[in-house]
Amino acid sequence: MTLRTVDQQLIESADAALASVVLDRLDLGTTATFEVRDPATERVIATPPDHSIEDALVALGRADAAGKTWARTTARHRSDVLHRAYDLLIEQKDRLARVITREMGKPLAEAYGEVQYAADYVRWYAEEALRPAGNFRENPVGGSTILTTRAPIGTTLLITPWNFPMAMATRKIAPAIAVGCGAVVKPAALTPLTTLVVAEIFVEAGVPADLVQVVTTKNSAGFSSALMADGRVRKVSFTGSTGIGSVLLGQAAEHVIKSSMELGGNAPLLVFDDADLERAVEGAVVAKLRNGGQSCVAANRILVQDGIADAFVEGFTEKMREAVLGNGLAEGVTLGPVIDDRAVRGFERLVADAVEHGADLRLGGSAPEGDGHFFEATVLDRVPETAEIANTEIFGPVASIARFGTEEEAIERANGTPFGLASYVFSENIDRAFDVADRLDAGMVGINQGIVSNVAAPFGGVKASGLGREGSGEGLEEYQEIRFYNLARRAR
Ligand code: SIN
Repeated sequence: MTLRTVDQQLIESADAALASVVLDRLDLGTTATFEVRDPATERVIATPPDHSIEDALVALGRADAAGKTWARTTARHRSDVLHRAYDLLIEQKDRLARVITREMGKPLAEAYGEVQYAADYVRWYAEEALRPAGNFRENPVGGSTILTTRAPIGTTLLITPWNFPMAMATRKIAPAIAVGCGAVVKPAALTPLTTLVVAEIFVEAGVPADLVQVVTTKNSAGFSSALMADGRVRKVSFTGSTGIGSVLLGQAAEHVIKSSMELGGNAPLLVFDDADLERAVEGAVVAKLRNGGQSCVAANRILVQDGIADAFVEGFTEKMREAVLGNGLAEGVTLGPVIDDRAVRGFERLVADAVEHGADLRLGGSAPEGDGHFFEATVLDRVPETAEIANTEIFGPVASIARFGTEEEAIERANGTPFGLASYVFSENIDRAFDVADRLDAGMVGINQGIVSNVAAPFGGVKASGLGREGSGEGLEEYQEIRFYNLARRAR
């Protein structure tokens, strides 16, 4: 395990990127502030305004008014603006990547990856904005023609998480803008800075200044309940925990607001005896360590068939050992800090509990001394189902491996959770891979690979993992309402 030091020049360029962030985009004279800290050093890196509920309601009024005008622009205009935004986001990738790494911690190379992934949503929706949105059908008994169209749903409330501060913002903002909606965006209080830069770049690209309002606040619960009750919000899109998602769904039900909820996961990753070992090891490491394991699609329960288990665990542990822990700005670091101290304490508890229940600790298991919220890449093998880690969303660089005998057993264990976001299957037998994928309770299945995320794919889950889809054409429809015109025709 290594905790590398950061080159002074890089610190200066990251500081310059942070200093460039306009912290108060609402400009309402708010004096209260809150602290944003770098998880690698625990130092305060910014003090954005802690907007009040009154501020948020002003923001809502602005987005609502701007949205009414924006909804009347042409699809071509909205598409051109989003294309310009894509170009500017890529032009400013160095600045964005540094801000992401400083506020969220991920290694700089991964932050660049997130900038591209996030910008790709903007380009995708620049293209989708132009796709035909309606159809034409005949009344089966004659006498009329039915024309369907899709209208922008109205003002949207977009609540984003800290783990992908840029990609989760653009995955929601870009489709809203593409179809003609205004948005109030509330980034996570742990990572509000990237969203502020994204909003600034959108305005530079031609998005009206009032259309996307970024509200920074610590009072997440008060903020969402006030805005949901206001009457002007027609759509809420949230990425975060199932607990908070179900509170928001309750509020959405009360006020009849369309909802997309991208909630918790507990992804099983199944490795069958007939898997390609190298592919399975590579895929499992990516599915576990992407974003330091802080992803709702991270492999949470690695289930390996008995015949391949020893070889898999050997290869997987060796690959996990290669992770270089340290400040995400330092060269060569592949595993950054986790988001806060609570997360570190949680991993310590889960590892101790698993070992107490009989799991075999193959790698890591501790938090290094010193500043920052770090935790080693960790591998636990033979984790019994009674251990807490086998039944909880880990959200960090701790791999939990268990073994199974038969396909039936694997499917039963994979589905034995209230969640159903992502899952992964490794088998070189295409019939088996698809049969198993069909039987998994999941919105997304990675087959022989550890990544499911793609701008062209409908990201989302089943069961307690949420409602609705993001990305792809389906993600656009979440911001639209279907209406139809029933056109009288002469009888033939
Ligand atoms: C998430 O973890 O919330 C999203 C991950 C992704 O888009 O890949």
